[in-house]
Amino acid sequence: MSRLRRARERDVAELDALDRSLYTSDIVDAAEWRARLKRRTNEVWVAEDEDGLVCSLLLVHGKQNTRVEGIQVAKRVQGQGWGRRLLRHAVRRAEALGKERVTLEVASRNTRAEQVYASFGFKRRGSIPGYYEDGDSAIRMTYELAD
Ligand SMILES: CC(C)(COP(=O)(O)OP(=O)(O)OC[C@H]1O[C@@H](n2cnc3c(N)ncnc32)[C@H](O)[C@@H]1OP(=O)(O)O)[C@@H](O)C(=O)NCCC(=O)NCCS
Repeated sequence: MSRLRRARERDVAELDALDRSLYTSDIVDAAEWRARLKRRTNEVWVAEDEDGLVCSLLLVHGKQNTRVEGIQVAKRVQGQGWGRRLLRHAVRRAEALGKERVTLEVASRNTRAEQVYASFGFKRRGSIPGYYEDGDSAIRMTYELAD
């Protein structure tokens, strides 16, 4: 398995292509990816193999929480542990920065992803109706960090 590294400006086209290969709604454009890379509260992590990016992780650090705003694993490598690895990384970064919890939202239709988060240890904390562009609601989940 290759190592996670911080994304750079030259990764933008591939970050955009990875999103488009996985999502049909709420897709951001390359300009937004560029802006995300520049925001001081953000961290974008990626890993790659000889065929390109295998995953991406967008973390947004707030005062007490670290939010997983995006977690993507390329279809060709799904089910090989990358999702869990990215979640572990999110938790480690949040711990390193002294945060209290990691939060995320997942579409209620995305049962596969919800199961991955639940088996990792995220707990359901309510839902947000109409959160996504396609009208789907979001399930809010949190992972509490030890004191
Ligand atoms: C959701 C996603 C990030 C998970 O990543 P992944 O690399 O496929 O997941 P992992 O290989 O780490 O698997 C994690 C768990 O899911 C299980 N799993 C793997 N493949 C599975 C499958 N096809 N169906 C059901 N469960 C599966 C694994 O067994 C593992 O559980 P375990 O640790 O209890 O055994 C990835 O599938 C993805 O990018 N999906 C498309 C984009 C998306 O929906 N992102 C989330 C938006 S909130």
